[in-house]
Parts: sequence; C-alpha cells; structure tokens
Amino acid sequence: MTDTTTPRIPTTRLGGPTGPEVGVQGLGCMGMSFAYGPTDAGEARATLERALELGVTMYDTADAYGDGDNERFLAPFVAAHRDEITLATKFALAIDPADTTKRIINNDPAYIRACIDDSLRRLGVDVIDLYYMHRRDVNIPIEETVGVMAELVAAGKVKQLGLSEVTGPELRAAQAVHPIAAVQSEWSLFSRDIEAGVVPAVAETGATLVAYSPLGRGFLTGSFASAEKELTENDFRRQQPRFTGDNAQHNGTLLDPVREVARARGITLGQVALAWVQQQAKVHGLSVVPIPGTRRRTRIEENAAAAQLVLTAEELALLDPIAGQVRGGRYADMRLTSAGRE
Ligand SMILES: NC(=O)c1ccc[n+]([C@@H]2O[C@H](COP(=O)([O-])OP(=O)(O)OC[C@H]3O[C@@H](n4cnc5c(N)ncnc54)[C@H](OP(=O)(O)O)[C@@H]3O)[C@@H](O)[C@H]2O)c1
Repeated sequence: MTDTTTPRIPTTRLGGPTGPEVGVQGLGCMGMSFAYGPTDAGEARATLERALELGVTMYDTADAYGDGDNERFLAPFVAAHRDEITLATKFALAIDPADTTKRIINNDPAYIRACIDDSLRRLGVDVIDLYYMHRRDVNIPIEETVGVMAELVAAGKVKQLGLSEVTGPELRAAQAVHPIAAVQSEWSLFSRDIEAGVVPAVAETGATLVAYSPLGRGFLTGSFASAEKELTENDFRRQQPRFTGDNAQHNGTLLDPVREVARARGITLGQVALAWVQQQAKVHGLSVVPIPGTRRRTRIEENAAAAQLVLTAEELALLDPIAGQVRGGRYADMRLTSAGRE
C-alpha cells in the first residue's frame, strides 16, 4: 500500500492547464532492464514503489528498451497502481532486419498500429496515457505520422500524444494535426542545444518539455568518470563519444562548478544537475518534467528531493558555461537523432 505520510513533490499539468496532473519529476525506467548493465529486478521494483510515494507519477518506458522487456517488467507495477500513475511509452525504433544488433527508425502507419497493440499487451493495459513517436522517419511527413497517432486517440488506445527528439518546425507541423502534450528531448547541464529552437516552440505550443538524461546518463553525478574503464562490456554509454577516452577526461573537469555549488549547498552533484533542469521551466516559461533514471531507492529519494531546490542567479551563472565546453557528441550515430535539432 502506498505510504501517504511522505511529503510529495510539486505537480504540473501535462500539456497545458487542462492536462492531467503529474509530479514535476518523472522516473525514467529504461535502465531497469536495458542499456546500463546488470540490474537487480527486486530493487528496481521497490524503486518504482518508493518513487510513487514521493509523488513521482510519470513512468517512462519504450518498446525499444530491450525489445519489450522494459514494458513487461513494468506491467505488475502498473497493474498495482494503474489509476495513480501516468504511463508513457514510445514507438519508432525498430530492429534492423538486415542486422538485428542495429536499430532503424520506422514511422510506417501499419507498423505504428502494430506497435500500440504490442505495447498495450506487454504493459497489460487498455490505454496508454502518453504515447510518443520516439524518432522521426524523415521519409514520412510528420503530419501523416501524427495523423496515425491521432487515430489511436480516437480508438481509445492512447490519451495524449508526445514526440521525442523533434525540431521546432516539426512540432509546429504536428500540432496543426493534433494537440501534442509533450516533447521529450535530452536536456541537461551537458546538452543544451534544444534551447535554440525546440524550447521556444514547446513554450509556444503549451506542451510539456520532458527532459531525458537530465543527469547526463549519470556522468553529471560523478558516479563514473570513464565509460570504458568503469562500466560493464554491454553498457550503452561505452558507445557515447563524450564518456570515453580524452573526451571523458576533459568533460570530467567541467564538473568543477557543479561540485562547487553542491559543496556550498550541502547537496549532491546530481541534485544540482536536476535542480538546474527543473529551473529551466521558469527561465524559459514552460512546463518541464525531468525524468532521471534510477534503479535504486536511495537515489530516488535523493533525486526527488531535488525537485524542491531553487538555485540562485549566482549559481546558475556558474553552471551556465558548462554545456558549451563539452567534447564529444550525445550519440555515436547521430542519424538516430532528429535531423536539424543539433
Ligand atoms: N527519448 C529518448 O530518446 C530517450 C533517450 C534516453 C533516455 N530516455 C529516457 O530518459 C530516462 C532517463 O535518462 P537516462 O537514464 O538515460 O539518464 P539519466 O537519468 O541522466 O542518468 C541515469 C544514470 O544515472 C544514475 N543515477 C541516477 N540517479 C543517481 C544519483 N542520485 N546518483 C548517482 N547516479 C545516479 C543511474 O544509475 P542507477 O540506475 O544505477 O541508479 C543511471 O546510470 C530513461 O530511463 C528513459 O526513460 C529517453
């Protein structure tokens, strides 16, 4: 049973003032069964429960996270708390038939219609609260893709629509077809390119900006300094140029101001990083929900506490130059990010 004595984090409305209420911080569930090395399923499940007690109500997954494994892992938690949570999943990153170790972007209408039914089945639900296009297939007009997504809303399979990694013009074109409740993009002290075009478009449309990898995939917490030296063989971060070799060594030095703020405030580096993302809501005038990922109860406590922190103008100024000095791209294969966003 959910503990009702724990103080809960503040809330915001997903996709505008009439949208559903969600905690201002969500939980990224990807690492619970995919991408970041071995996991302890029992501790991950306990983390989901503790998150909910803390008021973290939006749970983020995707069909691509372990070919449905992550959705299947979430199903018992979802069944236990269906009416208390906002469930978000995604389609579009398909297995490449020519090489099953690789991904391709697929926005084909028939594929989307099959994906939603597969996600509903794996998650054990009748409806997905927020359904995202994970990546845009540039060969298909976004209006057509969103048109198919809108059919899913009309069919009662989906409540709200989201887009991940889109550009400002793509968001505006999509919004003309159907309201877009959320745009999910990487946003952190290390990744701020969306501030030029995407963030203003999101503010203009009234969507919520769901900030993924707000902890820079853990690097901003100081929990690892070099992916190839410290992370297991199958950890996705070993493929990310900014976390390996000389780049990682250089990027580690960029954490000095984060350490300085953390030390002065008596908080952790991760809390500084999360507070910075959260504060961008006020800076840019939009609703922001960071979705840090963790599989551990101690860390969900720490991360949720950051939702209450407010950084001073001096602290923000100290942190401001970091992103401009980061070396190495977000992904090794930038074809899997939206063209024109960077
Ligand atoms: N739309 C997209 O294309 C896209 C791409 C990537 C991710 N996402 C979504 O965004 C979510 C979050 O992103 P992410 O998981 O890539 O990156 P993240 O949230 O920036 O970082 C997650 C990493 O930080 C560690 N961590 C979390 N809290 C910590 C703390 N307090 N102290 C030290 N380490 C901590 C986690 O380890 P432990 O788990 O061991 O605690 C994990 O390795 C994902 O789960 C996924 O749902 C979406």
